[in-house]
Amino acid sequence: MSEPNVATARAHSNIAFVKYWGNSDQRLRLPANSSLSMNLDRLHTTTTVQWSLDYGLDSVTINGRPADAAAVRRVRKHLRLLRDRFKIKMFARVQSRNNFPMGTGIASSASSFAALTLAGTAALGERLSQRELSTIARRGSGSAARSIPSGYVEWFAAGSHELSYAETFVDYDYWELVDVIAIVSRAHKRIGSTAGHAAADTSILQKARIENAPQRLNRVKNAIVNRDFVQFARVVEEDSNLMHAVMMTGRPALFYWRPTSLAIMNAVRQWREEDGIQVCYTLDAGPNVHCICVKKDAEAVKTRLGQVSDAIEILSASAGRGAFVLDKDAG
Ligand code: DP6
Repeated sequence: MSEPNVATARAHSNIAFVKYWGNSDQRLRLPANSSLSMNLDRLHTTTTVQWSLDYGLDSVTINGRPADAAAVRRVRKHLRLLRDRFKIKMFARVQSRNNFPMGTGIASSASSFAALTLAGTAALGERLSQRELSTIARRGSGSAARSIPSGYVEWFAAGSHELSYAETFVDYDYWELVDVIAIVSRAHKRIGSTAGHAAADTSILQKARIENAPQRLNRVKNAIVNRDFVQFARVVEEDSNLMHAVMMTGRPALFYWRPTSLAIMNAVRQWREEDGIQVCYTLDAGPNVHCICVKKDAEAVKTRLGQVSDAIEILSASAGRGAFVLDKDAG
């Protein structure tokens, strides 16, 4: 017999090709622009939630250790949303594990809040639509909305909670892209995404970035549908550069790139333009460089990254599926 009110779910991290940066509603995490990403199959969070009337408080462990105060606050806030949604009074025990190395600057908030939302719901024996799960995950971390559906995922900017959800654009097997991630620095970032989103409007470039976002989204969608890497690379790099231009020109000015990040970005362009390797770069709110390439070129990209600097650690992941509930006995 299974234990009552307990379930385990897994969700993958994702990398955006058209980025989310800035909110139209900070509290509801309604994004200023629609975005599009790919789930990363090898990088995931597995979360067990147990609800019980016996608990006097929510408790949270991450990778087997009690979570720090800020993480606990954020998880509790999310559990409160679930309590309100299902009109329950129970508290929860949350145990979460990331399979990717901690402190590498690979964001875990997307996979964490997607897994937490699904596990917390399943533990109550509830089945919500993927669309609603995505909206709830979004409240925990914007990009978590995109870790609920499978494959290549579009998240809609909209004026209300119900309408800002993510859905599969094409599934993971439509185009076999690989994200070869160059871990440039393990240093902790000074300003995280949440504060960054809040500062986005202080850059005079944000307005232009937002205005042009629908066009970039269309371009990236066309490139994916046609598996056209030339067009894909052009828009993905442009979108990443634009987001970083906004970051660098806001208050506070946020410089996430390190000298090695820039060296890799230049090398990637050269490999593509001079050597015909189908690879392009994109960077999130950190110095690590995501080298997106076609599957047949992934090994070449890894080898070449090793030649840029021997201090670079490398992770790699292919397009992955959406969040799912694990059987009780599965890892
Ligand atoms: C640069 O989803 O991490 O990775 O809602 O504050 O948790 P919060 O922000 P988050 O922002 C992601 C920003 C980004 C771009 C992207 O993934 O689209």
